[in-house]
Amino acid sequence: MEYRSLILAAGKGTRMKSDLPKVLHPLLGRPVVNYILQTVAQLGPEKIYLVIGHQAELVQSALEKVQLPVKPDFVLQREQLGTGHAVMQAKELLQDFSGILLVLPGDAPLISAATLRGLLDYHQSGGYSATILTTVVDVPTGYGRIVRDSAGDVVGIVEEKDASDQERLIKEINSSIYCFDTQLLLACLGEITADNKQGEYYLTDVIKILRQKDYQVGAYLTSDPTEVMGINTRQELAQAGKILWRRKADELMSAGVTILDPDTAYIHPEAQVGPDTIIYPAVVVAEDVVIGSGCQVGPFAYLRPGTRLADGVKVGDFVEIKNSVVGHGSKVPHHSYIGDAVIGSGVNIGAGTITCNYDGQKKSRTVISDGAFIGSNTNLVAPVTVGESAYIAAGSTITKDIPDGALGVARSRQVNKENWVAARKKS
Ligand code: UD1
Ligand code: CA
Repeated sequence: MEYRSLILAAGKGTRMKSDLPKVLHPLLGRPVVNYILQTVAQLGPEKIYLVIGHQAELVQSALEKVQLPVKPDFVLQREQLGTGHAVMQAKELLQDFSGILLVLPGDAPLISAATLRGLLDYHQSGGYSATILTTVVDVPTGYGRIVRDSAGDVVGIVEEKDASDQERLIKEINSSIYCFDTQLLLACLGEITADNKQGEYYLTDVIKILRQKDYQVGAYLTSDPTEVMGINTRQELAQAGKILWRRKADELMSAGVTILDPDTAYIHPEAQVGPDTIIYPAVVVAEDVVIGSGCQVGPFAYLRPGTRLADGVKVGDFVEIKNSVVGHGSKVPHHSYIGDAVIGSGVNIGAGTITCNYDGQKKSRTVISDGAFIGSNTNLVAPVTVGESAYIAAGSTITKDIPDGALGVARSRQVNKENWVAARKKS
């Protein structure tokens, strides 16, 4: 059956205490709402509606920059009167649509396409009027609770603020992700009221209304509560980042990467790491980074976008690399900054080497050819090229190209003043 998707992203996100709309807060460098958009787009719905309201223009322009397989249609909710009211804003767009509407909150970035597919299948094969994606959590605080009757059938959802003490004990929660028969949803939305503690039009009230009309409501229970977590606070934003890093670490370990401390491996989901690479503690790997196989990275290394490490590269402690290629078997073992550089294979970069790639206006490239040896504490003032198998004396500030096989020395000659200490005492 045909289905469309509607994502709710009009809210302010009061609990974030921010000038930035909640759905634009960066999670591992990308707006929170991008995640669910990307996941939903993967499923290939006929259309995606995105309800925006609070700082709508800002949200819309932020999302226009993002590459998405299916572009969302924006729906404006001028006043944010609740999740039910938000869906109502798409009424005209949906009035001729008889398929399924998959409704999701913009603030749930961790949901997987597989779970959404499971939900859609469950909804269709069960013939339900609505199906709620639910999960069971230890601490249900803040979520709507799933109320079931003695037969175990869902009878409604009660929001935390409206719940009785008894209902607050329920640990099965509403993820805010649902499948609806679109036309039944529209009919029921016409009947909801704002008669609750928050004075809002709750989407959740549709469930109760459907049941009162004797329609069947399904609940598709997912076992992984992290998938449905909502980002409402800065704490939850941090927690979601941790989960994404952890998922990435697990994925890499399963693919043959050694990670000494997965809790401090901050590897972006889009980064690539080859097998038999060892990641030491406290390593940050940004997106658009490719690490070959058999490498060593860290501890305390920072690989920024555009970094490409060939196989067998060693990047040691307190090293930052940005927009640079490091060739096969080369070593950058300690305390270096490598930016906008092309480093060949078999190169050794001494401790404290800096590529001076920025003159305050533009960035310039450093080229270090195969087999070169860069002495410790070298400054490479770009643009500059170091020839094949060339050497640089420690402590040099290199401003001119060095030919193949040459030794570059660019530091003042040492002077030793004999008996200097004794002479000073006398005077
Ligand atoms: C909602 C659910 C709750 C569920 C929880 C899961 C309701 C009434 N409650 O609560 O049962 O457990 O999500 O995370 O639906 N939004 C709008 N327009 C509005 C209000 C909200 O677009 O007028 C959007 C928000 O931007 C957000 C989403 O809807 O993306 C959910 O709103 P939020 O205020 O976070 O709802 P919760 O209180 O978390
Ligand atoms: Ca929420």
